[in-house]
Amino acid sequence: MNPAMRNTMHSAPAPAAPKREPSLQAERLSKSFLSGVVRVQVLQELSISIYPAELTLISGPSGCGKSTLLSLLSGLQPADSGTARALGEDLSKLNKRALERFRLKHTGFVFQGFNLFPALTAKEQVQLPLGYLGFDDKRSAARAMQALTEVGMTHRANAYPAQMSGGEKQRIAIARALAKEPELLFADEPTSALDADNGQKIIDILHGIARSHGTTVLCVSHDPRLVRHADRVLAMEDGTIRNDWQPSGHAPVRPGRAALTAEQHS
Ligand SMILES: Nc1ncnc2c1ncn2[C@@H]1O[C@H](COP(=O)(O)OP(=O)(O)OP(=O)(O)O)[C@@H](O)[C@H]1O
Ligand SMILES: [Mg+2]
Repeated sequence: MNPAMRNTMHSAPAPAAPKREPSLQAERLSKSFLSGVVRVQVLQELSISIYPAELTLISGPSGCGKSTLLSLLSGLQPADSGTARALGEDLSKLNKRALERFRLKHTGFVFQGFNLFPALTAKEQVQLPLGYLGFDDKRSAARAMQALTEVGMTHRANAYPAQMSGGEKQRIAIARALAKEPELLFADEPTSALDADNGQKIIDILHGIARSHGTTVLCVSHDPRLVRHADRVLAMEDGTIRNDWQPSGHAPVRPGRAALTAEQHS
């Protein structure tokens, strides 16, 4: 066979990698707040796409607008201008009721302060949102135990928040968010109140959720320990994304997307 021909046969183009759609999109998002008589511009025409099955970390100095961005992308607050899209849905087009329904069905939240009810056991905390989704007791109990297993907390299922450590409370809060099996999981400073070991456990759990469930995990933090565990880091400053990079050691999850590595970044 003609060697040139053999070469052609062997160098058939590889099948195109499947295109993955972003699950969260900010398009020229702007947001300002009135502080006394002064209007403070917090987000300045910020645009970014965020993808499923990744743990994306938003880092940046205090007051730079990280939590504001999270609240706009999760529909907790409206933007002044621009578009916030979640799962392809333009959030500004949803009325209050539809937005609440969207958040209930598709999103989970984890906060620095855990936000647990003092009078409910761990299992009851996790079951609660499932009741709002129409699960009967038996189904919600099974789903809650499944979520508690994922965060390694079945042995504390009957404990009350006052009987738990900070790390344990945060794992319950994650189980509560996870039990709904949301496509989008938002975490605002989930490790700030925790020591290094517990912070590490939390970030491992969040990373595991992104990988095993294909969940979009968007986490806001100034904790530098988290950076190397993220699939992607968005560094925010003055209301915009200054840097978008990928810590080394994590294979890109999104096919065909160029990203800076940690070495290129430093
Ligand atoms: N509801 C509000 N009313 C007035 N100002 C606000 C409001 N929410 C946020 N801000 C202001 O917007 C700016 C950005 O706040 P944001 O909470 O997004 O910052 P952050 O990056 O999350 O900070 P931190 O790391 O301290 O949590 C701050 O100057 C804050 O005071
Ligand atoms: Mg914040």
